[in-house]
Amino acid sequence: MEERIHTLRKEVEAWSAGDKAGVEQFRLKYISKKGLIPELFEEMKKMPPEEKKKVGKTLNELKQAAEQKLQAMTEVLESSTSANYDLDLTLPPVPNKVGNQHPLTLTRNRIIEIFERLGFNVADGPEIETDWHNFSALNFPENHPAREMQDTFFIGKNPDVLLRTHTSNVQIRLMTDQKPPLRAIMPGRVYRNEAISARAHCFFHQVEGLYVDRNVGFADLKQTLYHFAKEMYGKDIKIRFRPSFFPFTEPSAEIDISCLICKGSGCNVCKHTGWVEIAGSGMVHPNVLRNCGIDPEEFTGFAFGMGIERVTMLRYQVNDLRLYSENDIRFLKQFHSVI
Ligand code: PHE
Repeated sequence: MEERIHTLRKEVEAWSAGDKAGVEQFRLKYISKKGLIPELFEEMKKMPPEEKKKVGKTLNELKQAAEQKLQAMTEVLESSTSANYDLDLTLPPVPNKVGNQHPLTLTRNRIIEIFERLGFNVADGPEIETDWHNFSALNFPENHPAREMQDTFFIGKNPDVLLRTHTSNVQIRLMTDQKPPLRAIMPGRVYRNEAISARAHCFFHQVEGLYVDRNVGFADLKQTLYHFAKEMYGKDIKIRFRPSFFPFTEPSAEIDISCLICKGSGCNVCKHTGWVEIAGSGMVHPNVLRNCGIDPEEFTGFAFGMGIERVTMLRYQVNDLRLYSENDIRFLKQFHSVI
């Protein structure tokens, strides 16, 4: 009897089922009511009590081993059948959604590309800024109404710490930390305390540019921005400079380009003037150079700043600023092929 149990145990352990039929065969042969193991149990009943005790133990172990084996084989079979579906190779494929870059990222990268070719570096600075870097060093006198041009978010109760209202703070950091010649553009996010509408938002993006060296003049500023406009919007674009005011530049000018929508004949976007504003600019004010430890007798510079949303709007004809931050996939997915 012991002998037979031992051989069966070996058989059970060595059994390899392969498929469903093999597993069923195993069950019928060893475990089912008429199987070999129950048969041995029947035989055992007829034995004298002391032998019964001994055989009973090994026989029970065999039974357990067979049941475990059955369970293990069934599990392996179930996990592999899930991949056993009917494969229809004629079905159209499910498109793989890989995502795409945000339109503002596309525009920012294009702007960087254009200026990098002119030898401009890309500089970065903090979004939480001190009053000095955002206003005072840029020649905004304390309590001067010019500060009202940019409605400011302050951090807590400290009037000295704020969310930057423009990327001009990076100009100050750059001119303080490095010596001319300096040639850099500064893309980044800026914040203003404005009610959200189609034309204004409490945060948006700017790219500012700065060029400081000996003998930098207004003509350099004009040509640089004219080159930028042609690269960005095509050779037919027209550009004009309008006198303006910024505390940190003198003289200052606002830059318009001919309306891309109506090609200058007048429409809603250009408010029937044929022109749309794209940037502020000017020659860096001597006070600003001095505040950063640069001698205005020796060095001059120009600076300009533009809104990335604005440039993007003219590029893709998007007429509502809010769309850029709503994350509506129907809006965002339109831009993946336009670089
Ligand atoms: N910092 C200005 C703004 O945000 C833009 C600007 C930059 C104007 C540089 C002139 C020179 O409005």
